[in-house]
Amino acid sequence: MTRSIQLDGYVARIAAGLLDEAGAIIQRESPAHRYAIITDDVVSPLYASRVAAAIGSHLCSILTIVAGETHKTRETWAHLTDALLEQGHGRDSVIVALGGGVIGDLAGFVAATFMRGIPCVNVPTTLLAMVDAAIGGKTGVDTKAGKNLVGAFKRPASVIVDPLVLQTLPESHLRSGIVEALKHGVVSDAGYFDLVTRYSACDRPQPNELLELIAGSIAIKGDIVRGDEHERGRRKVLNFGHTLGHAVEFESNYRLSHGEAIAIGMVLEAEIAERAGIARLGTASVIRAALGGAGLPVVRPAELDSQALLAATRVDKKARLGIVEYALPRRIGEMAGGDSGWSVPITDSAVLEVLG
Ligand SMILES: NC(=O)c1ccc[n+]([C@@H]2O[C@H](COP(=O)([O-])OP(=O)(O)OC[C@H]3O[C@@H](n4cnc5c(N)ncnc54)[C@H](O)[C@@H]3O)[C@@H](O)[C@H]2O)c1
Ligand SMILES: [Zn+2]
Repeated sequence: MTRSIQLDGYVARIAAGLLDEAGAIIQRESPAHRYAIITDDVVSPLYASRVAAAIGSHLCSILTIVAGETHKTRETWAHLTDALLEQGHGRDSVIVALGGGVIGDLAGFVAATFMRGIPCVNVPTTLLAMVDAAIGGKTGVDTKAGKNLVGAFKRPASVIVDPLVLQTLPESHLRSGIVEALKHGVVSDAGYFDLVTRYSACDRPQPNELLELIAGSIAIKGDIVRGDEHERGRRKVLNFGHTLGHAVEFESNYRLSHGEAIAIGMVLEAEIAERAGIARLGTASVIRAALGGAGLPVVRPAELDSQALLAATRVDKKARLGIVEYALPRRIGEMAGGDSGWSVPITDSAVLEVLG
């Protein structure tokens, strides 16, 4: 049975085996003369020819980049757009983003800019991309100054999720997806937080549990993004863990994955919220226990310098007039700042107290 979740102008579909039906969905909802499947060199040998066959191999070109965050750059964007032009793609082409969050962000940005914008179908293949990155229309690339600093809002034409592809995903990347699912619980639903905590403790979640997590997170994120696509208000709550988390990810030179860095960021930011009297006492330790129980790092690597992390938060898009704003919880399931635009200015000294 396929689960369909209606989002802002597009539908996310989730079903085991959906990859082989992707062709019918894409041809029906995003008819085009040609399709460009953008993927990476890990995912390509696993799934690209299956997706191409489902669409019709004669209609598809497959553009493969080197996997990894360090390739989510303007240089790769230039390489991809050049390749599309060389292969004769035009305004009547459609991009298919087949991969994790790196591919989703990059291919989405290519789709937002190529010929001033062509449709993009998201086929996420990591848990992180299924529960988070493929939804909501944020696309972009990293620069030397920081993460996601150049990009565009670009709604996908549709999202096609086949949880069976997670069978090939290494355990560590599966855990990264759990982080964003736990974040969805913290920002809006304590019951969902408990569910994710239960499913992710001990072993790899079962296939039916993964399905529930994917559908649950897409519904929560879709609900938050609806009405605030451009993040002027409530959507900011989804940045919980990401102000310090992005700084940790960047300062580790991407040695830590996005999910691992955000896990550390969630713990640090919950501690800031508690010390500032914003979060109920004990909130940080519940978050730390859930993340730790799922096998995620909860302590910042000692070699990451406090001042460098602080400096990195200032480059983040969440800084306004030099003061960094945070999305902070009041308790599990409820965020602070509803009367002040869903973000809270925090002084450097308060951050340094927690960073030590
Ligand atoms: N746009 C958004 O709203 C949003 C939200 C959250 C995260 N992100 C971005 O997402 C990125 C992180 O995404 P990610 O964690 O998916 O990383 P990723 O795309 O680098 O994927 C992780 C690794 O798994 C491999 N892989 C992917 N699918 C596989 C499969 N089915 N089997 C085997 N290997 C597979 C990839 O090749 C890669 O090596 C970051 O750049 C982050 O900024 C964006
Ligand atoms: Zn994230």
